[in-house]
Amino acid sequence: MSVDRREKRLLPIAHWPSAEEASAMRWFSPLDEGRLSLKTRTWIPAMVPWRATPEGEVSDAVIEWYARFAEGRPGAIVIEATGIRDIPSGPLLRIGHDRYIPGLRRLADAVRAASGGETKLFIQLIDFLSIKRRPHRDKFILRFLKLDERIREAAPSADDAEIREWLCDQEDERLQELFPAREFESMTMGYRERVTDVDIPEIASLPESLPALFAEAAARAEAAGIDGVELHYAHAYTMASFLSRRNTRNDGYGTTREGRVRLPLEVLRAVRARVKKEYPVGLRFLGDEVIQGGSDLEDATFFALRFAEAGADFLSISKGGKFEDAKQPKVGEAAYPYTGPSGHECMPTVKIDAQGPFSRNVPLAAAIRATLRKAGKNTPIITAGGICSPWQAEEILSSGEADIVAAARQSLADPDWFQKIRDGLGSQVRRCFFTNYCEGLDQKHKAVTCQRWDRDFDREDPSILRSADGKRRLTAPHFVKN
Ligand SMILES: Cc1cc2nc3c(=O)[nH]c(=O)nc-3n(C[C@H](O)[C@H](O)[C@H](O)COP(=O)(O)O)c2cc1C
Ligand code: SF4
Repeated sequence: MSVDRREKRLLPIAHWPSAEEASAMRWFSPLDEGRLSLKTRTWIPAMVPWRATPEGEVSDAVIEWYARFAEGRPGAIVIEATGIRDIPSGPLLRIGHDRYIPGLRRLADAVRAASGGETKLFIQLIDFLSIKRRPHRDKFILRFLKLDERIREAAPSADDAEIREWLCDQEDERLQELFPAREFESMTMGYRERVTDVDIPEIASLPESLPALFAEAAARAEAAGIDGVELHYAHAYTMASFLSRRNTRNDGYGTTREGRVRLPLEVLRAVRARVKKEYPVGLRFLGDEVIQGGSDLEDATFFALRFAEAGADFLSISKGGKFEDAKQPKVGEAAYPYTGPSGHECMPTVKIDAQGPFSRNVPLAAAIRATLRKAGKNTPIITAGGICSPWQAEEILSSGEADIVAAARQSLADPDWFQKIRDGLGSQVRRCFFTNYCEGLDQKHKAVTCQRWDRDFDREDPSILRSADGKRRLTAPHFVKN
């Protein structure tokens, strides 16, 4: 597809604000509410760049990534989803041990320096359950499948080895009839733990283990000089799964709305109790899971009120991004929660439908905010999803649909875009195409970059950091005024 065709699908912007107009915009006005204070209401939400060391440490490339965003001086940057446990998880950032503090402190210092102290730095704290790659079909049947009564009854032999050989010869439709649903899923999608697997002791005891794990991680973030934490209660991960209507745990931590929100509240309280009184603790959760039988906006408004009552300092509203409707991965790859319809809602592209990706999630944030305000709660609400123009942000803020307007991919395409707009140079913004090249790299666990950075890229210039294959630059080009 040619660049011109992609440019035709950009959100039209009749005119970019002058520097004077920009200085009067709500988006660039400060926010001071409770423990949260920001120089502007611009926000870069969490984005995993796949740049940590294999041990989950902050690398130089991680520092470069965040410092580059900080040069554009957003009100806040949220550091990518960072694992709270001290277990190997590839080049994803971790905060599950005190040894991570010095690296994170270096990162906080770099962001402060690059933004001239204008940008607040938050870190997203995540817990996730085990997920395995999709196995080779026959290997799964021969080695891992549990042979139960139903399979044995259908098989033409009583010998385990012969049963397995016979199963290998059956069509998938037949295996779907014979296997328990979870076994069939493990074979076709890869094994995935759920919060409802209470026969696994570690999962049954999550309500005992998670509050302390999150609280210790938050204390480390505070010790590293990071300005606040965002608890990751969104998308496909443990805490979102507790909140989900699909959580049927019957130990008091599932089934009813009150049960489903119980652990998320206990975690929030444990974190609050562990950090200083004035330290901001917010969270990100879903306004709608967008899956069959999942939570919807009614659940979300209920949860939001409970989070606000429990002292959350901000609520960042996202949408979708679930494993339940993910596409089947290739053999040897793991399921990715942004490949199905709920995933498309989480990171919408220009192809999603006639509305396109623009301001798509705003109604969720607006409904949640309205409920909180009616209840006398002023908790700041953050919306994200297809924001790429200052006028979108102005409309959202002036109509009271959110308090902070976040942009992930547009900020990736052009980390300087906030500053360019404030300088009256909006026409120079490198605009996001919303076609998700970046997300494709995330899915493959490759260093995330933007397709738009690689235009006119001088491959001979040794000062430009590149991907391992040398083909992509790892940081956004600097702005040369036209
Ligand atoms: C490469 C990439 C990585 C992401 N990683 C995270 C993450 O770690 N945590 C999170 O809550 N959202 C993550 N997101 C979702 C974004 O924060 C954001 O909600 C989404 O992209 C929609 O906003 P946008 O239209 O402004 O991009 C990621 C998005 C992208 C493109
Ligand atoms: S790669 Fe990502 S950030 Fe860059 S233009 Fe495409 S969607 Fe936007």
